[in-house]
Amino acid sequence: MVDGTLINEGQTSFIVPKDHSAGGPGKILGSVFFNEQMAFNRDVSVMFLRAFDRELTVCDAMAATGSRSVRIANEAPNTVVTANDISTYAIPYIEENIRLNKLDNCSASNRNLHSLLAENVFDYIDIDPFGSPMPFLHSSIIGCRRNGYLAITATDTAPLAGAHRQKCERRYQCRPLRGPMCHEAGLRILIGTIAREAAKFDKGIRPMLSMSSDHYFRTYVQMRDGAGKADESLGELIYMAYDPITLERSYSKEPDKDHKYGPFWGGKLFDVEHLQKMDPSGTAAEKRCTKMLSLWKQEIDDIPLMYEISEISSHLKITTPPFERFIERMNEYGRTSRTHISPTGFKTELSLNEIFSVYKEVAGEMR
Ligand SMILES: C[S@@+](CC[C@H](N)C(=O)[O-])C[C@H]1O[C@@H](n2cnc3c(N)ncnc32)[C@H](O)[C@@H]1O
Repeated sequence: MVDGTLINEGQTSFIVPKDHSAGGPGKILGSVFFNEQMAFNRDVSVMFLRAFDRELTVCDAMAATGSRSVRIANEAPNTVVTANDISTYAIPYIEENIRLNKLDNCSASNRNLHSLLAENVFDYIDIDPFGSPMPFLHSSIIGCRRNGYLAITATDTAPLAGAHRQKCERRYQCRPLRGPMCHEAGLRILIGTIAREAAKFDKGIRPMLSMSSDHYFRTYVQMRDGAGKADESLGELIYMAYDPITLERSYSKEPDKDHKYGPFWGGKLFDVEHLQKMDPSGTAAEKRCTKMLSLWKQEIDDIPLMYEISEISSHLKITTPPFERFIERMNEYGRTSRTHISPTGFKTELSLNEIFSVYKEVAGEMR
């Protein structure tokens, strides 16, 4: 028996150290890491995996207490899960949690993920590190079966969202962006970096679900074999020019003195067909899962980058009109949607001048 607290999450129970994180990026408080706030994040993994109608081998490569592993094995019965962690302290928790849930489709593994993934391939690999996933990307690509899936978390949101530019340039070889769109930019830097790493192995990527949430970015991508697929993915990379005074933005496939931000992933973030199959019933944060699924499904994801309504109101110095009405009116002129990234953010194919003119029109209706 291990010492700890029993957590009931979704349809699963597991033991974690008594001292554990309850929010933020979290840190190791007991001998093994656990963060209660990541329940929604684990819900999404469960929904993502049980939406497949075939068996999948899963490697939870950085499993800590095995909370995600046992939830997946228990709530997505189409999976066979390897719950791996390098820490010897983690293994008794993983083993106890497998026993507790009477799982015969989950086993514990105490390996350095680099050697585990050099010797074994899996249909799905989960990388959930402290901070940046960059040191683990190469191995996860090697260990991923042909056309398999990678789920990659980054909690180093400050560099990715432009608060520490040099750190982002070192880790991701990308120039990040400050401003109201910085979270979408950070998410797209993460995806673009996975595409560039995969291309080294003649592989492309297809993002299926990408999110900016709480204190982290996370993306689920399908790996696609072949030099052609790698070139296709690299073709999705874009650079951006941005003037915070005029709010003017423009995009280019090549960097130049103005298009100095990036490269960002400029392609799609979601596979709506897969999202349609994801079922929130019985998850721990069912309400939030339902809300997020509907936001992801409607989000325009083939046009970077989002705007915040507040940047338009500050620029025009006109009081913000009702957001719902603004989105509705924008849609009469061109494709516009909300974004999961911010409740007051929007994506649109309209130009900045068109946005200004709809904004003024809707604000005028209020007078
Ligand atoms: C943020 S925690 C993972 C949390 C866990 N996925 C969850 O949902 O509760 C990161 C874990 O990665 C493990 N780790 C770090 N480097 C590793 C490596 N090279 N191979 C395997 N595990 C590693 C650490 O021991 C730690 O338990």
